[in-house]
Amino acid sequence: MSILVTGGAGYIGSHTVVELLNAGREVVIIDNFSNSKPEVLERIKQITGKDFKFYEIDYLNRKELEKVFEENEIEAVMNFAGYKAVGESVQNPLKYYNNNVSGAIGLLETMNKYNVKKFIFSSSATVYGEPEKIPITEDCKTGGTTNPYGTTKLFIEQILQDLYKSDETWDIAILRYFNPVGAHESGLIGEEPQGIPSNLMPYVVRVASGDLEQLSVFGNDYDTPDGTGVRDYIHVVDLAQGHIKALEKLEKEKTGIYTYNLGTGVGYSVLDMVKAFEEVTGKKVKYKIVERRPGDIAICYSNPQKAKIELGWQAIKTLKDMCKASWGYMQK
Ligand code: WQD
Repeated sequence: MSILVTGGAGYIGSHTVVELLNAGREVVIIDNFSNSKPEVLERIKQITGKDFKFYEIDYLNRKELEKVFEENEIEAVMNFAGYKAVGESVQNPLKYYNNNVSGAIGLLETMNKYNVKKFIFSSSATVYGEPEKIPITEDCKTGGTTNPYGTTKLFIEQILQDLYKSDETWDIAILRYFNPVGAHESGLIGEEPQGIPSNLMPYVVRVASGDLEQLSVFGNDYDTPDGTGVRDYIHVVDLAQGHIKALEKLEKEKTGIYTYNLGTGVGYSVLDMVKAFEEVTGKKVKYKIVERRPGDIAICYSNPQKAKIELGWQAIKTLKDMCKASWGYMQK
C-alpha cells in the first residue's frame, strides 16, 4: 500500500516524502512543477537512498488523477498541491479557489470513487483570523481570514467536516501549520520562493547573502515585547514528522475527523529572528522599520498540546536550528 503525496516536489511536500521514505513507506508523488523543480525528486532519492513512483500531472486533471488510483494501491492521501502566496491570492483569487478548493474537491471525489478514505490536509493557522486567544488552541473560533489563500484553507476545512458528517468511514486529519521555515539538514532541499520573497525567513536569507539590500520590518508599534510581530516559526522537518504521526494515528484507530495545531508553542518577534540569524551565520542583516503590512496581526503562536498528547508529536528543533538550515540550503 502506498501513500499518495500531491505536490510532493514542493517545499513541505518534499520534506514529508523524505520522512515517509525514511519510515519505510511506499510513496507515490504527483506534481506539475508549478512551484517546484524536477531536481527535487533526484535530491529526495539522494537523501533517502530510496525510490518512489512519480507522475507529472496536474491534480485538477481528473482523468490522469484516476489513472494514478487505477495503477497503485493507495492507502492514504496527503495533499500539498495548494498554492500559498498570500499576495498573489489577492490579485488572482479565482486561480486560488480553483486550484486549492476545486482541486481538493476533485481529489476527494476521486478518493471516494476508489474507496480511499484516509486524508491528511495541510491547513494553516491563518484560519484563526485575528486569534481569539494566545496561545491558540484548536477550539478557538475560525474565520475572518484576510486573504483568499487563507479562505481556501477555511473552505476546505468546512468541506472536510461536511464530508465526514455525510460518511463516517472517512478518517481525516486537518493539520494547521504555523510558520514553516528551515530546510533539510543535507542542504539538498528547502524553500525556493519565486521572485522577491514575501515571507520573513526567505527574505532574511536573501539579505544576508547580499541578494537583497535590506529587510523592511513591517511595524514596531505592535503590543509585543519589542513592538514587532510575533510568530510561531516551526522547522519544516519537525512539521514533516507531524504528518507521519498523524498518518500513524489514522492507521492505528478509527479516528474520525481531527484538527491539530502544528507549531512549537513559542513566539519569536521579527527582531528575535534577525538576531538569531545573525548569531548563527555571522552575517549582518540590515533592516529598517517601515509601516505595518495590511492584514498582519500582532501575535500568533500555538498551543501544541493536543498534538503532543494525541499524536505523540512535538517540535524539537530550535530557532537556531531553523536559521542554520535555511542558511545552509541557501549556500548550497
Ligand atoms: C512573519 C512576520 C511580518 C516579511 C504567512 C501567511 C500564512 C502562512 C505563512 C503559508 C510578520 C514580518 C515579514 C518582511 C517583516 N502561509 N515581516 N518583513 O504573515 O505570519 O504568515 O506565511 O504558506 O498563511 O499569512 O508570515 O513570514 O510573511 O511574516 O517584517 O519582509 O514577519 O509582518 O510579523 P505570516 P511572514
